[in-house]
Amino acid sequence: MSTGPSTQAPGRMARFGEWIDERLPVSSFWKAHVSEYYAPKNFNFWYYFGSLAMLVLVIQIVTGIFLTMNYKPSAAEAFASVEYIMRDVEWGWLIRYMHSTGASAFFIVVYLHMFRAMMYGSYRKPRELLWVIGMAIYLVLMAEAFMGYLLPWGQMSYWGAQVIVSLFGAIPVVGEGLAEWIRGDYFISDITLNRFFAFHVIALPLILLLLVVVHLAALHEVGSNNPDGIEIKKNKGPDGVPLDGIPFHPYYTVKDLVGTVVFLGVFFLVVFFAPEMNGLFLEHANFEPADRLKTPEHIAPVWYFTPFYAILRAVPDKLFGVILMGLAIALLFLLPWLDRSPVKSIRYRSPIAKLMLGLFALSFIGLGYFGLQPVTTVGTIASRLFTFVYFAFLLGMPWWSRLGTAKQEPERVTYESH
Ligand code: HEM
Repeated sequence: MSTGPSTQAPGRMARFGEWIDERLPVSSFWKAHVSEYYAPKNFNFWYYFGSLAMLVLVIQIVTGIFLTMNYKPSAAEAFASVEYIMRDVEWGWLIRYMHSTGASAFFIVVYLHMFRAMMYGSYRKPRELLWVIGMAIYLVLMAEAFMGYLLPWGQMSYWGAQVIVSLFGAIPVVGEGLAEWIRGDYFISDITLNRFFAFHVIALPLILLLLVVVHLAALHEVGSNNPDGIEIKKNKGPDGVPLDGIPFHPYYTVKDLVGTVVFLGVFFLVVFFAPEMNGLFLEHANFEPADRLKTPEHIAPVWYFTPFYAILRAVPDKLFGVILMGLAIALLFLLPWLDRSPVKSIRYRSPIAKLMLGLFALSFIGLGYFGLQPVTTVGTIASRLFTFVYFAFLLGMPWWSRLGTAKQEPERVTYESH
């Protein structure tokens, strides 16, 4: 038996790989973006949510395709077709509950993903565009969820859409025409349902997928931030590899796998045991078919929209409310330019910055809570207070982000092996 160096020709698989590579740059792509993509070694819990957002996107697309096989996008049949999916289609209940739970899971994951970026200053230079693309994703996601919610044609689908579309009517001069143009009719009707279906199943998912690809391309151009908020590219070894970087594969593929398993565990607990989440994920009124002649007693959007809904309701004037609600979202786009802190990560920011971020999170949750409740005096006062805090955080940022003394950032990322 020969013990010298192998002179064997490459195997079939290797030759097939080479054949492909000569025609499509698969292995160089894998190297550049996975096996030799160097990510900071100090990623923590908060860095799970990007990969989880991708997982939920896949869940939504796959379950959505199967739902479409039995769903009927017409005002006469939509509600009954969803009931048919729930009762008669094999595994239909599972597909539908995965899709409805997935919608809420998407927003939970994305809100945590955004909060991480706010904690570690991930929107700051050189990641401004990455953040702006993220915000565009968020807008499309909101449109996707809003249009999807009309499809089951329940009472809340109908009246929720009615309330939201009528908000456009508050815009002076063009408002009424605009609302009519969106509905395609004088009221929410079969025509509206048809166009929302087209947007929900094809137009918006396509845009969403495209934006996610661009988001990742922008991320890989500048590289990930990390909990210390310092640039690992500033400290490179002689081989050009960042000293604090580790290959994405296998290190982060394995880490993300752990996140995926835990997430799916929780996700299926909800799907199997609490898919309605006591009216939070699937509202009670939506188990009644849409009735144009009967307004539900209490109209509220699904929880992920309620922070903005509370801002709208906190303002007595409808037009001003709509403007403020739009501003609450629009200002987030500007975050990279509003923040003037000398350091990125919350770890090294002044106590004032920590307090402001904490208050902002509290105001968002508070608004979300009061947006779910029927209007009361206490609720309105609290919503106004939280609205004030929300805007004080954003509009005051150029000022408060420079206050107090920031701690010295370390030269290298802080990391303790376990
Ligand atoms: C479908 C929705 C989204 C998907 C699939 C997605 C995916 C990802 C992935 C995989 C990463 C890298 C891993 C990580 O940092 O967790 C990432 C990073 C990032 N994303 Fe997203 N994202 C989404 C939405 C958003 C939104 C809505 C924003 C902000 C408005 C955003 C802002 C960022 C930022 C700033 C980073 C860099 C974070 C850092 O390096 O510290 N993303 N995203």
